[in-house]
Amino acid sequence: MGTFSRSGLERLKARRRAVILAHSYQPPEIQDIADLVGDSLELSRAAASLDCDAVVLCGVRFMAETAAVLAPGKAVLNPAPGAGCPLADSMDASSLRRLQEEHPGDATVVYVNSSLEAKAASWACCTSANACAVVSAAPTREVVFGPDRNLGAFVARSTGRTLWVFDGSCPPHDGADIADMERMRRAWPDARLLVHPETPPAAWDLADAVLGTGAMIAYVKSSGARRFLIGTEAGMVHRLSVLFPGREFSAVGRIGCPNMKKASPEAVFSCLEDMEPRVRIDPSLAEAARAAIGRMTAIG
Ligand code: 13P
Repeated sequence: MGTFSRSGLERLKARRRAVILAHSYQPPEIQDIADLVGDSLELSRAAASLDCDAVVLCGVRFMAETAAVLAPGKAVLNPAPGAGCPLADSMDASSLRRLQEEHPGDATVVYVNSSLEAKAASWACCTSANACAVVSAAPTREVVFGPDRNLGAFVARSTGRTLWVFDGSCPPHDGADIADMERMRRAWPDARLLVHPETPPAAWDLADAVLGTGAMIAYVKSSGARRFLIGTEAGMVHRLSVLFPGREFSAVGRIGCPNMKKASPEAVFSCLEDMEPRVRIDPSLAEAARAAIGRMTAIG
């Protein structure tokens, strides 16, 4: 196995016609070697549209799987195959089916943080960036939604739709330390507090805005404030600090996702050398999930 160097990585990327995509929660050293750092929706759209032969998806497993469904002609490589998502794992196909059977005829929208089986059984999936738009576009007035109960409650409140929500959550976001948020608000009264909709409603009540990570960037860009308290996975602070060097960002709520920290530059390098671990999806499952994932990338 070759050793990692920036110049070696650039040569390997050119040889493989590869791009490196990284979620904003990834460790700084991964964000710094990525061609594109983005939110779940931006990464999905990039995987589908970029002109390349291989995509290295630095995130968690459902992100790599979604990219593989959207880019069937490209090799999707996952440098952290052990990086799961407890939220996605919380709702298996049979528990979603039970919820659907309780609300027959209602369209189902699932968060992208879900299994391919759940996506295959849904009208559409969504990310935090377009959850409200996707639910508003659903063909039925009432909508089955899963697996994140906080995002579901936020979408119901924002859209006025009735949602039948699965009782799942992202442990790091749902366990946000609200007392820490309150303390930081008091310490920095002029700062803006931005929280992710996977946090519980008690966090939204303290916040200036409830936003997905992509919308947090847009908020900071258009805000005149100098300091921001960031209530989402702490990797987002690195992303914002790189984009806005003149502003100050502090992570609040002690929200850390261990799965998002499993990739390393060495693993990125070696997966491009070996073209493994490669995401391989059963073609019939990919086909079944494609319509829901396609609506996610098309709406909002
Ligand atoms: P976004 O990428 O939509 O901001 O959501 C991030 C997230 O919490 C994934 O679990």
